[in-house]
Amino acid sequence: MTHLSVNLNKIGLLRNSRGRDYPNMVSMAKRTLDLGAFGITIHPRPDQRHATYQDCHDLKNLLKHYPNAELNIEGFPDDAFLNVVLEVQPHQCTLVPDDPNQLTSDHGWNLSRDQDALRPVINKLKAQGIRVVLFMDPDADNMAMAKEIGADRVELYTEAYANAYDTDALPELLAQYHGAAQAALDAGLEVNAGHDLDLQNVEALCETGLIKEVSIGHALTIEALDLGWDNVVKAYLEKLG
Ligand code: PXP
Repeated sequence: MTHLSVNLNKIGLLRNSRGRDYPNMVSMAKRTLDLGAFGITIHPRPDQRHATYQDCHDLKNLLKHYPNAELNIEGFPDDAFLNVVLEVQPHQCTLVPDDPNQLTSDHGWNLSRDQDALRPVINKLKAQGIRVVLFMDPDADNMAMAKEIGADRVELYTEAYANAYDTDALPELLAQYHGAAQAALDAGLEVNAGHDLDLQNVEALCETGLIKEVSIGHALTIEALDLGWDNVVKAYLEKLG
């Protein structure tokens, strides 16, 4: 079984495109958790163009009513982000090496270069009881270092897998991702995955049981235009066991 954490950034984007609080992030989170999703993810970027720092607080308040569900806040660990995460104390914080103007996350950490900057950040978050995840490319060789600098989990960046789905490259990519996941498990980490996962491709990635949690937002929101939010969340839950 793989946990589903629904990324609500696109709900934030829709809301922010007009001045009103519509759609309301907390209502959508509540509806999603009531359908049985394990968690909610948001990725506040410095310009807060999708999820905002206030959303982090509002969702944490909601999650108090769902003792078995988790809030995952992801983002680049600048001062503003870290202040919010330390205040809100989500269950999980996923650190992502994206720069402020990036359209979306498009690479994992380079730990050889960034390990000295990451160690104190990881220590600070863990000292508050927050599980720390590092967003990583699917490279088996880097998993031991992620463990060594203090991460609890890695999140495998799955765009390359999603692009290979439905092509001849799929077996090779699946082997690469499963190899990276196994290396992470062997190093003592747990494994999340995310980016460009959808109703078509999520099952093959997760059926080995190596992936603990997926976070899915963009495709899920688009699929919901077609099928309806509730149907789509339920379809993911069925596929993830
Ligand atoms: N993981 C990270 C680090 C992300 O930045 C995102 C997108 O915000 C996701 C997972 C989810 O990707 P998608 O929106 O394509 O499902």
